[in-house]
Amino acid sequence: MHKNPLPRLDESPELRSRLLEHCRLKRGEVWIDPVGGHRVACIDCSDSQAVATLMGDDLATLALHDPPYNLVAFETRAVGEFVSWCRRWVELSLDHMRKDSSLYVWLGADQRDHFQPLPDFMLMMRDFPVQSRSFITVRNQRGYGTQRNWMAVRQELLYYVRGNPVFNVEAEYTDIPKALKGYYKDVGGQKTENTERGRGETIRAGNVWLDIQQVFYRMQENVSGCYAQKPLKSIARIIEASSVRGDYVVDFFAHSGTTLLACEMAGRKCLTAELDPVFCEITIRRIEHFRATGKTGWQNGHAFEDSLPAGAVAPDTHNENEPAAFQNMLF
Ligand SMILES: C[S@@+](CC[C@H](N)C(=O)[O-])C[C@H]1O[C@@H](n2cnc3c(N)ncnc32)[C@H](O)[C@@H]1O
Repeated sequence: MHKNPLPRLDESPELRSRLLEHCRLKRGEVWIDPVGGHRVACIDCSDSQAVATLMGDDLATLALHDPPYNLVAFETRAVGEFVSWCRRWVELSLDHMRKDSSLYVWLGADQRDHFQPLPDFMLMMRDFPVQSRSFITVRNQRGYGTQRNWMAVRQELLYYVRGNPVFNVEAEYTDIPKALKGYYKDVGGQKTENTERGRGETIRAGNVWLDIQQVFYRMQENVSGCYAQKPLKSIARIIEASSVRGDYVVDFFAHSGTTLLACEMAGRKCLTAELDPVFCEITIRRIEHFRATGKTGWQNGHAFEDSLPAGAVAPDTHNENEPAAFQNMLF
C-alpha cells in the first residue's frame, strides 16, 4: 500500500504553515464550485456577516454540524463560554434554513467532567424554536478505556427539526444482521432465533448505529492530516434521510470535507464553512480528487502530494492503527 501520510496537522504547526502557501482561500474568501454549485468559505461560523457571505439568499433544508467538542483534540474552554459560542452559530444556522428543516449536531460528553458539554448544549437548545427528534449513538468498533471503567465506544448525534421536514425512512434501512438473539419463531416445526433467520434488507438502524466503521488509514476515504474525520457512511445516511436531491445542506465545520463529498455523491448542494485555510483546501481538493479519480480520500497518501516535493513530509508519528475519528473521542 502507498504510504505517505501527513501527520496530524494540529500537532504539526511547522508543516501546517508550509501548506498555507498551497491554499487557495484566505480568511473571508469563498470558493464557488464551478461544477456542482457547492461553496466552501474560509470563515468563522459564529460571525453573522461571514455566514451571510457563504449562504447568500439560499436556504438549507438540512444543517449538519460537527463542531470541536470542547475536549481532547481541541482547545477547551469553560463550558458556559463554549455553549455561548454554540448558541451563536446555531442561531445563524437557523437564520439560513427553511421553515421546514432538520438540524443535526455531533457532540461529545466528557465523562471526567460531568459529561460536558452535551447536557449544557441540550439545555441551551430549548431556547430555540426547534423540536428535539432523536438522540443517536454511533457505536465505534474500538474504543478507549482503562480496566477501571467501561470502554468508551460511542459518538453522540442530536437531531432536531423545525416545522415538518422530509424524513426518508429508506435511508435508515441497513443490511446488517440482527445483533441480538431472540424472537424465537417456528420454522418448519423447528424453533429458530432471529439471528439464525439471517439478514434482511429492511433492518432499521434505529438510533444506535452499529454499522459505521471509523475511518482509519486502510480505508480509501481516509484523509491524513485530519484528526476528526467522520465516516462518509454516517453523513450520507443523514443526508439521504433529511433532504432530497437539489437541496442545500449546510455544514459549518468542514475539516476533511466529508459533508461536501457526501452531498456531491447524493446530488445535494453543500454550503460549508471552515476556519482553517488548510482544511478548506483539503475539503476542496477532496471533491476535485473524487471527480478526477472516483476515490473518496487518499487512504495512506495525502491531499498535497502534487504540491509538496517528495520526502517533504516527516514520517508520521501517530499510531496508524488508530482510526482518525478516535481523536475526537473522550477516553
Ligand atoms: C470536528 S471537526 C469537523 C469534522 C468533519 N465533520 C469531518 O468529517 O471532517 C471541526 C472543524 O471545525 C473547525 N472550526 C473550529 N472553529 C470554527 C469556527 N469558529 N468556524 C468554522 N470552523 C471552525 C476546525 O478547524 C475543525 O476543522
